[in-house]
Amino acid sequence: MIELKTPGEIDAIDAAGSVVARILAAVRERAAPGVRPSELDALAADMIAEAGAVSSFRGYHPRWAPGPYPGVLCVSVNDAVVHGIPSRTKLRDGDLLSVDFAVHLDGWCADAAFSMVVGSASSAAGDEKLIATTEAALQAGIDAAQPGAQMGDVGHAIGQVARGAGYGMLADHGGHGVGRSMHEEPHVPNEAKPRRGVRLRPGLVIAIEPMLHAGGRDSYRHDRDGWTIRTADGSRAAHAEHTIAITENGPRILTLP
Ligand code: MF3
Ligand code: CO
Repeated sequence: MIELKTPGEIDAIDAAGSVVARILAAVRERAAPGVRPSELDALAADMIAEAGAVSSFRGYHPRWAPGPYPGVLCVSVNDAVVHGIPSRTKLRDGDLLSVDFAVHLDGWCADAAFSMVVGSASSAAGDEKLIATTEAALQAGIDAAQPGAQMGDVGHAIGQVARGAGYGMLADHGGHGVGRSMHEEPHVPNEAKPRRGVRLRPGLVIAIEPMLHAGGRDSYRHDRDGWTIRTADGSRAAHAEHTIAITENGPRILTLP
């Protein structure tokens, strides 16, 4: 069932989203060659506590996972697409880092992600283009999330940008409704036919999250840890995500500082 949110509830998700954005900005600032993803996780955990929020990730245990999720961040490096567990392996200059993060504040969740190149990006023009295209795909999806449009319009907009640039995508992964729970209905596809699917009404709150990778073939594998999803061809992947609300006036991004 899809639950529409009241304006007051959207403001509550926006408050959670501000915390998410602030902590992600601090993680971006800290990420550098020699820093361990586990240290980024600890930084985020401290800031969650300081904000009076709760991690939406730690302890999360979907049916397909081997156990409860151990971190507060997902840190996916290079060929890891999503769900990377923050490791103690130091980041290196030129690593493509994707960070996914959600908190609950006062019972409401917000979810966001970004990608960046660690250190000096001069040798990573291809990675910068992959990240910029992923961000453009996210923006296209947000722009399509107008009241009266349909979910297929969102997936179509994302897919056009990603496929138009020749990138691969994780076909069976996408975004989701967000509210009291991190994952609610409806599913938000990253590729779809326009003028199909759920009607977008004011009060609908969704996370839009394109995941693109440099290899054109859509093929993935789960890491031995049971969480991390990697590209089968070893190509690098990027991820960008915002939680947004559909309002009478158009989409409103809730995961901004
Ligand atoms: N934000 C991620 C998503 O929407 C959820 C990560 S699940 C976790 O897919 F368990 F790794 F936290
Ligand atoms: Co999400």
